[in-house]
Amino acid sequence: MSNSIQILGPRGNTLAVSASGTGHSLFLLHGFPLDHRMWQPQLAGLSDRFHVVAVHLRGFGASTLDEASYSLADLAQDIEFLRHHLAGDKPIYVAGLSLGGYVALEYWRQFPDALRGLILSNTKPTADSDAARSGRLSMAQQALESGTWEAVQPMLEKMLCQQTFDSKLAVVELVKAMMCDARPTAVAAAQHAMAARRDFSDLLAAIRVPTLVIAGEADPIAPASDTAAWAKQIPDSKLAVIASTGHLSPLESPAAYNQALLNFLNV
Ligand code: MLT
Repeated sequence: MSNSIQILGPRGNTLAVSASGTGHSLFLLHGFPLDHRMWQPQLAGLSDRFHVVAVHLRGFGASTLDEASYSLADLAQDIEFLRHHLAGDKPIYVAGLSLGGYVALEYWRQFPDALRGLILSNTKPTADSDAARSGRLSMAQQALESGTWEAVQPMLEKMLCQQTFDSKLAVVELVKAMMCDARPTAVAAAQHAMAARRDFSDLLAAIRVPTLVIAGEADPIAPASDTAAWAKQIPDSKLAVIASTGHLSPLESPAAYNQALLNFLNV
């Protein structure tokens, strides 16, 4: 069981988290267009050893979207605000999946000393190509004009591997529910922020915190072979490839994913 906590943010906004457990804090940053519920197996499986904090990124879950636009750097500042309120300013572990990974990299860039360790999951350090950027802006427009599901539905087949579609119906239903529940304004704001994100490729060698990079064996969005290549550039890094998973490894194979986290967190 996790507690839902809502904190009044610096601009009168609400920042929400779902949290459970005690110990070193492990902040979990969700992917797009999803929410904190994608981390249910980590809240359930790791909170006997860690203070697990699943963040609701701006506009998703119970966090409000008070300005129509923001940058990923702003989201990293939200994490720092939450660290202050929930972790007593102690260093934290930050794990981000895909969009969450882009935010985790921004957090490292702005607050390297606040990190005990970094987990970059099913994500990539590169910025968008022009084509990817224009695809994002079209999706943002479509979400505002026609609703979230109409806009994001083509992403579903890339989220999960075939084995998950065939044998884990509860996971498929949860992913669809998160996608349907995302507010059009949140979808649009997140797409604009991701389209404008910084390229971290040349900064990887400067990461000085222990880092775990996680890939899904069959992830078409952040392919495992690409991930293995960039992970090597982070000096103190380990790579874990989670078998039989697509883009959402923490949900598709929670036991293997949690074990990979534990192996890293206990070092
Ligand atoms: C995600 O899962 O967060 C998305 O695939 C990120 C993206 O659209 O680049």
